[in-house]
Amino acid sequence: MAETEVPRFLLKEEEEQQQVTQPSEEVKAASPTEISLRTFELSDLDDYMVWASDKRVTRFCSWDAYTSKDDLLKYMTETVLPHPWFRAVCVDGRPVGAISVALNSGNDRCRGMLGYVLAFEHWGRGIMTRAVRMAAVSVFRELPELERVEALVDVENVASQRVVEKAGFLREGVLRKYLFMKGRSRDMVIYSFLATDQPPAT
Ligand SMILES: CC(C)(COP(=O)(O)OP(=O)(O)OC[C@H]1O[C@@H](n2cnc3c(N)ncnc32)[C@H](O)[C@@H]1OP(=O)(O)O)[C@@H](O)C(=O)NCCC(=O)NCCS
Repeated sequence: MAETEVPRFLLKEEEEQQQVTQPSEEVKAASPTEISLRTFELSDLDDYMVWASDKRVTRFCSWDAYTSKDDLLKYMTETVLPHPWFRAVCVDGRPVGAISVALNSGNDRCRGMLGYVLAFEHWGRGIMTRAVRMAAVSVFRELPELERVEALVDVENVASQRVVEKAGFLREGVLRKYLFMKGRSRDMVIYSFLATDQPPAT
């Protein structure tokens, strides 16, 4: 999953990671009233810090949890704001996550890489599935040169695989030992959604 470069530190508590599954049933029962995507503003820093500093969220991300708001502010200023397609996932207008499509140039310009993260307390309510569906519609409309959005998901990240599958992405295969992340090499599932693909009925 292509989230842009950020400072790293290696997670030590593998045990702690294994314990993380889903929020409580109580949280899952509360359904959001409105989900929207919009560009970020610097005033979103505190909301962004909620998920960006959470190791449960960054477990399958190429970057590590932020420990400093100043570092996150720098990332937002230098990467998020100037990014061609980086959106806040909002519930009732408030950012609870992020979704982006990293673009390529030259011969690779027909495809972009999807990335997304959601604050832990909102997991399991269908929010990211809806956000990915919305992104797949708007990114092709806003970037006409783009023909393919792809997603690389760790084989162990079952929730994320479900998200892209529910959003209509095609599972194309497993790329064995494809990248090195959080201390070890990973098998990654590759998915794609084309500009000509039909989004699934909601
Ligand atoms: C992956 C992530 C974005 C999912 O967001 P979400 O809003 O909770 O996802 P949804 O509720 O739309 O869908 C999650 C699906 O995964 C399923 N799921 C969750 N955990 C699961 C698990 N451990 N095993 C099997 N299925 C699981 C849910 O049941 C749901 O499927 P269903 O609707 O068929 O029941 C969120 O968990 C997250 O931010 N994770 C950390 C960051 C990350 O991994 N980003 C992606 C990197 S590739």
